[in-house]
Amino acid sequence: MAKAKQAKKESKKETKTSSKIYHNYIGGEWMKSSSGEWFENVNPADTSDVVGRFPRSNQEDVNAAIEAAKSVTTKWRRTPAPKRAEILFKLARILERDKQQFSREMTREMGKVLKESGGDVQEAIDCTYFTAGEGRRLHGFTTKAEMPNKYAMCERQPVGVCGLITPFNFPMAIPSWKLIPALVCGNTVVIKPAEDVPLSTINLVKACEEAGIPKGVVNIVNGFHEPGEALVNHKDVRLISFTGSTDTGRIIAEECARSNKIVSLEMGGKNAIIIMDDADIDNAVEGSLWGAFGTSGQRCTASSRLVVHKKVYKKFTEKLVERVKKLKVGSGLDAKTDVGPVINQPGMDKILSYIEIGKNEDKATLACGGNALTKGEYKKGYFIEPTVFTDASPNMRISQEEIFGPVTTVIPFNDLNEAIEIVNNVKYGLSSAIYTQDVNQAFYAMQELYTGICYINSATIGAEVHLPFGGTKGTGNGHREAGTQVLDIFSEWKSIYVDYSGKLQKAQIDSVEI
Ligand code: UN1
Repeated sequence: MAKAKQAKKESKKETKTSSKIYHNYIGGEWMKSSSGEWFENVNPADTSDVVGRFPRSNQEDVNAAIEAAKSVTTKWRRTPAPKRAEILFKLARILERDKQQFSREMTREMGKVLKESGGDVQEAIDCTYFTAGEGRRLHGFTTKAEMPNKYAMCERQPVGVCGLITPFNFPMAIPSWKLIPALVCGNTVVIKPAEDVPLSTINLVKACEEAGIPKGVVNIVNGFHEPGEALVNHKDVRLISFTGSTDTGRIIAEECARSNKIVSLEMGGKNAIIIMDDADIDNAVEGSLWGAFGTSGQRCTASSRLVVHKKVYKKFTEKLVERVKKLKVGSGLDAKTDVGPVINQPGMDKILSYIEIGKNEDKATLACGGNALTKGEYKKGYFIEPTVFTDASPNMRISQEEIFGPVTTVIPFNDLNEAIEIVNNVKYGLSSAIYTQDVNQAFYAMQELYTGICYINSATIGAEVHLPFGGTKGTGNGHREAGTQVLDIFSEWKSIYVDYSGKLQKAQIDSVEI
């Protein structure tokens, strides 16, 4: 995969091009990689538009970043949590101030339409405000001890140096989901953003610098595989938080097991919307369009399966296809665009290969789309027509495997139990949804759908930052980001017993006379 990605952003020696240069941030200094190498980040809507050159970092850079992070763990841990939060509130205000600029830069490097990039930055702002509030809570608890004149309580403590490895699809929101809770809990971090979107994460880190987060507490190292691997393998990193593919996540988990690191994983999805026969069909069509084609389908939460009751199957499918055909594909910077490009050539190849699988191997009906757009305004970008497969069965590959592109699969069903079975019968478990007007059906589905997130009368995308985010089965490893639940990733509990009896009291052995 890394090899293929290099096709997009070839590594170059420092002197070759004149595009804008960005740096790593290590120990409070902006610096180039010790490799002396750079990679180009290009606009996926127009690959002749070079966003900038970024350090192609190696193990040495990561070692330096970890060293910097390690050197300030005590200082940051001892900074009172409300004080840490104060700096984070300032960070939120900076993100608000620069939202427009960050959104434009995000669309330029990532491709999604400007409004959605605005949503991404907003999610980072929301996350920062909400999670910074924990600086004045970070609740532990007290409880009763078994012995007289003895006190028992429990508090959170930071874990140390955290490695954050983040994906291309939410270049500011997802780093913030990891960074802000890590910091409020008193940890120091090294971030390795996806090589397709380094600028947005650098923008976040620059804002951290301006907010006054002390040198060394936040570090960013850019590049491909090597820095990611170096982070995962380093003995002084205590925790890895990763969002990305299930395959990579599994490898990371194996490495972390070897060195006994805490590891939190957010991985793939094959999310489905159930559309019941009593659903408001127009609303369900709108939701399906947004869920399937928002962010060009490149969300872990994307509605990549539409499971439709046979009684409304024809009506729903016709309306859906009619609307999909009208979606405007184009540059995310153009206000008329509904669906932007996909991220890069390997991403495009993978999506197109699934379209082939849908047609030739699965033999589903290609109802619309199905082609790469390569002419005219599309010539220099990675564009694919929004694609709908219909008459699909639940076990087809396009109904089971994550495609991560503007492709959705419509599967008919006869009754709610069958629909639930279809939704649950995949290896992932991130998000699910049901459109129905019947409260009994809605509550029954809520109970039976085995996913980490569930929507009633809304698509599978659009999670809010104050609720836990994550999935069951192949989507994760039991953790939840966002909400207050994320604190359980970035802190460890310390149970404290205070014996003020002035004598030895043996728990489980001494008994108390009543
Ligand atoms: C992701 O695709 O990994 O719920 C994150 C949503 C967004 C976050 C998606 N708020 O769709």
